[in-house]
Amino acid sequence: MSASVSASRVGVWLIGARGSVATTVVAGCAAVSAGLHPPTGLVTETPEFADSGLPALANLVFGGHDTLDCPLPKRAEALAAGGVLPYGLTAAIGAELTAADREIRPGGPAPGDTRSQDELIAVFAADIRDFVRRRDLDRAVVVNVASTEPAATGTDLPPSSLYAAAALRAGCPYVNFTPSTGLHHPALAPLAASSGLPYAGRDGKTGQTLLRSVLGPMFRQRALAVRAWSGTNLLGGGDGAALADPAAAAAKNAGKERVLADTLGSVPEGEVHIDDVPVLGDWKTAWDHIAFDGFLGARMILQTTWQGCDSALAAPLVLDLARLAARAHERGLTGSMTELGFYFKDPVGEGPSALGEQYAALVGFGERLRGEVR
Ligand SMILES: NC(=O)c1ccc[n+]([C@@H]2O[C@H](COP(=O)([O-])OP(=O)(O)OC[C@H]3O[C@@H](n4cnc5c(N)ncnc54)[C@H](O)[C@@H]3O)[C@@H](O)[C@H]2O)c1
Repeated sequence: MSASVSASRVGVWLIGARGSVATTVVAGCAAVSAGLHPPTGLVTETPEFADSGLPALANLVFGGHDTLDCPLPKRAEALAAGGVLPYGLTAAIGAELTAADREIRPGGPAPGDTRSQDELIAVFAADIRDFVRRRDLDRAVVVNVASTEPAATGTDLPPSSLYAAAALRAGCPYVNFTPSTGLHHPALAPLAASSGLPYAGRDGKTGQTLLRSVLGPMFRQRALAVRAWSGTNLLGGGDGAALADPAAAAAKNAGKERVLADTLGSVPEGEVHIDDVPVLGDWKTAWDHIAFDGFLGARMILQTTWQGCDSALAAPLVLDLARLAARAHERGLTGSMTELGFYFKDPVGEGPSALGEQYAALVGFGERLRGEVR
């Protein structure tokens, strides 16, 4: 094939397939593929990636697991009512939402589930393999966009790790868009290393941390002394409700703090708070207050207010990651894709933490992906 976009058919298997981010991914991919909206926010649609052989958006096929059974078209209507999806879009792409809805299988473990961990992994892996076979896909990428779970303790695998193990068993690249454990569990590290599959994570960098990864290097490069960096997030929706659990919020905040430690060289005073404000739905306000010293100890303050639509920020990143991971798999790349740190709060591996350097690494990764396309 002479075109630079690959014709391969790629499955995107979403864990948390009925959530806000997942629904926006499916709806957004259909809208952009149909030419109803420009690909705003999709880095993989910029000229730097034109020759990377990425699968076409129109060739992505969606499915996944969820523990809820609310139909995807209904979820999309709720998002449209909240202003997350544009008015009229759900009617225009109803067929694509219904097609994805048909490919969503029951997740787990359900309350009172008596299946062993290995039985659950086997069921999840069989669902993914069945999807690839029935839909005649060249490959599938598993992306975790399920509710944030508390950090794992003990030896039992948390749900996110059961799905990650299932992805490996089904022979699929794996992307963890959440702060949940996923492949980070000690019991999975050797499996991941020997799987011969590419993987990436953790926790999509879409708002407050994105800004921190730009501002942190600025303070350091200008030799300004950051004395304290405090932040507050107000959000609603399913994510807001999940993060009202202090253990889940702690997993999220660890990633936000890592960016400051890595870019400033030390962790300044200050905390990050996450407040659930249900009425805000998917619209997040993130406020940062940065106290810093200038020449001769002059004390100054920078305050930033980020007001974003969380799922609209996350969905193009999920599509980028699915396309990059699929192409990496096609090109035979294995192991941790550290060059994808651009997308994450808490990237796997030892890559740079400043956004500019991360972008340069991502563009380099796009060049590595070039080559024959099928
Ligand atoms: N900007 C962003 O939106 C952003 C940025 C970074 C990370 N994230 C992460 O993405 C995830 C999804 O966010 P959201 O706003 O779509 O949340 P959401 O609450 O709308 O959706 C989460 C979905 O996961 C499902 N789920 C929960 N437990 C499950 C399980 N065991 N198996 C299968 N499905 C399960 C829920 O039923 C729900 O449908 C969260 O972890 C969030 O922290 C989002």
